[in-house]
Amino acid sequence: MNKSTRKAIIAGNWKMNNTRPEAKALLEAIKPLVANAEGNVEVIACVPFTNLETAMNVTAGSNVKIGAENVHFKSSGAYTGEISAPMLVELGVEYVVIGHSERRQYFGETDETVNKRTLAALEAGLKPIVCVGELEWERDCNITEEVIARQIKLDLWSVTAEQVKNVVIAYEPVWAIGTGKVATPEQAEEVCALIRSQLAKLYDEATAEAVTIQYGGSMNAKNCAELLAKPNIDGGLIGGASLKADDFNTIVQAAVNG
Ligand code: PGA
Repeated sequence: MNKSTRKAIIAGNWKMNNTRPEAKALLEAIKPLVANAEGNVEVIACVPFTNLETAMNVTAGSNVKIGAENVHFKSSGAYTGEISAPMLVELGVEYVVIGHSERRQYFGETDETVNKRTLAALEAGLKPIVCVGELEWERDCNITEEVIARQIKLDLWSVTAEQVKNVVIAYEPVWAIGTGKVATPEQAEEVCALIRSQLAKLYDEATAEAVTIQYGGSMNAKNCAELLAKPNIDGGLIGGASLKADDFNTIVQAAVNG
């Protein structure tokens, strides 16, 4: 198996941006630009909870899919401020970002909670985009490989081989997120290949070959083509550049042509 048999996925991660009218305007602008990607590249916008219903309505009938930016591991209960997987499913949401480094850094997310959220999402029928990545200090200390292998093992603990085919892994070096300091295509490819070999160890070769692995971290209209050309980089998780329709579309088109 090779890259051409895997699903290429370009996902925007809007983070804490856009009111409902702004979300509507951005999605209306994106829709016609990326329509040609249908059947070739999956295009997703992961939006704040408050925008989900608007986003679902605006993108209905188009090839733009909608994702949430987090999900709780319980289906209901006394968890003030949290949103459950059944709540997202009821809205028609298909994807959810889990374990983004900003959640890990600012909101106490651990590999254990990332794992619980991933299992809950899968059980409810959502497709998790599980984020992993090393800190700059960890890269400097030459332990990137260990850090990533550990995250993959813990975050996917007790996820079955059948389930993992519905998981997207986003490799996001923490030092590259929102910093403009993009990983070189070689650095990104090296870690994405490592993630695939870790998946092969935990599952088997065929399963590992079927999983979409994205790169994220300052990916933009200028550097996307080189990154997406690498054999183990099947797509991108895009922060800043996903807030501008033209830039986001340039990245989608690079994936279509890649
Ligand atoms: P960035 O964010 O593209 O703004 O670096 C990526 C992400 O956080 O997913």
